[in-house]
Parts: sequence; C-alpha cells; structure tokens
Amino acid sequence: MYNELFGQVDEYISGLFNEKDEALLATQQSIIDENIPQISISPNQGKYLYLLAKLCNARRILELGTLGGYSTIWMGKALPADGRLVTLEYEPKHAAVALKNIEGAGLGEIVEIRLGKAIELLPQLIEEGEPPFDMIFIDADKPPYTDYFEWALKLSHPGTLIVADNVIRDGKVLDENTTDEAVMGVHRFNKALAANPAVTATIVQTVGVKEHDGMAIAIVK
Ligand code: SAH
Ligand code: DHB
Ligand code: MG
Repeated sequence: MYNELFGQVDEYISGLFNEKDEALLATQQSIIDENIPQISISPNQGKYLYLLAKLCNARRILELGTLGGYSTIWMGKALPADGRLVTLEYEPKHAAVALKNIEGAGLGEIVEIRLGKAIELLPQLIEEGEPPFDMIFIDADKPPYTDYFEWALKLSHPGTLIVADNVIRDGKVLDENTTDEAVMGVHRFNKALAANPAVTATIVQTVGVKEHDGMAIAIVK
C-alpha cells in the first residue's frame, strides 16, 4: 500500500528537518542512473538511523546490505572522525557504486565495504577478532534475517542497538500462510526476536514515501 497523504507528510517532515545534502542527493541519483533497485531507506528513515546512531553514541557500526550506500552515508555521518562502519554487500556492481558515493560523502576513511555473502562474511569478522559493534543495521536479503540476527548478537556488547529493516512488508507479515520467502523470513525473524531473552525489542511501523513497512529495534541486554 502506498498512501498519498503519508507520502506528502513524509515530504513535509523531510522539508523541515533534512537539509540539502549533495552527497545523499548524488547517491539517490546514482541509483537511478545505474539501474540499481530503488529500495534504499527513505530520507526520513535515514535521519532516524542517524539519530539512533547518535543516541547510542556509536563509534562502530555494522551494516548488512549496502546497495548504493544511501543508509551507509546517513549512519556514517553520525560517527566521529575516528569511527568505523563495516558494510556487507553481495553484488559487485552495488558495492562499486556505493564506494564512489561513500567517497563522495567524505566517508572513505571510515567506511569499509566487504564484498560477499553476509552469511560468510559475518563469521569472518569474528575470526579476524573484530571488536563488538555499537549499532548493527540488518537490511540484506530477508530469508536469513534470523541467522543474521544470531551473528549480530555475537558481534554485540551489552547496549548494542540492532535495527532490522522491512519487517512488516505492507502487513503481509500477518499472513501465516504466505509463500513469499521474504515475508516468511521476516515473520520468523519477528517471532524469534520477540522470544529472544538476550534483547529487549519492538517494531516501529513506517509509512511515508515508501511502502508501508516496519523497522525492528532491539537493545542487547
Ligand atoms: N541498506 C540499503 C539498502 C539495501 S538493499 C539502503 O537502505 O540504502 C539490500 C542489499 O542487500 C542489496 O544491495 C543486495 O544486493 C544486498 N544483498 C542481497 N543478498 C545479500 C547477501 N546474501 N549478502 C550480502 N548482501 C546481500
Ligand atoms: C526490498 C528490500 C529492502 O531492503 C527494502 O527496504 C525494500 C524492498 C526488496 O527486496 O524488495
Ligand atoms: Mg530495506
């Protein structure tokens, strides 16, 4: 469902709170020009992630699913100059476009893009002794979301904020009999998240310029 009023209100909010950022605008344009799927988070969701990163005093952020780097740049902007953001991406073309955008935003020193399947890169990070992250944004392919969350926990410390995008899918998540793999993935994820004693969590529904969806937020105990 896309509701015109929700879209207009989203733009109203954006007009009030999001100043023009050349690097973010260039990133959105590059996604159109390069024929990459237009599934980045919205500008207001970007500001929301930026604020969440600030709220948890994030110095180290992990992202699953880079696409063109739009969410990466929003979160990267919240980091101190000596911060670090590791972002995992499977598609070489997406990673190449993202790298250009991230460098264009002046975040080349802070952000590291790792190319490969998230499910293989996550254990590698642990093997390499990567210290825990302060914030983790899960936004790659949806079927393995529950597995991604388990790895995220291994890469967390008490207080780490874990955010997962697209966990409502226009309410399709209510359909217990869905055969849509992505919806089944987030359905399993939401249930596991709610039952996981290692975190306290909720889901915020999102409406606006994108389809009705939701973001889960969880704090590691
Ligand atoms: N976070 C981005 C959007 C990510 S879209 C933003 O809001 O700006 C999801 C991305 O995950 C796509 O670029 C897709 O190529 C990537 N992806 C899909 N399967 C993956 C996998 N198994 N491992 C890592 N990345 C994957
Ligand atoms: C899709 C993926 C996303 O991360 C998103 O925010 C919206 C849509 C998708 O794969 O359809
Ligand atoms: Mg998403």
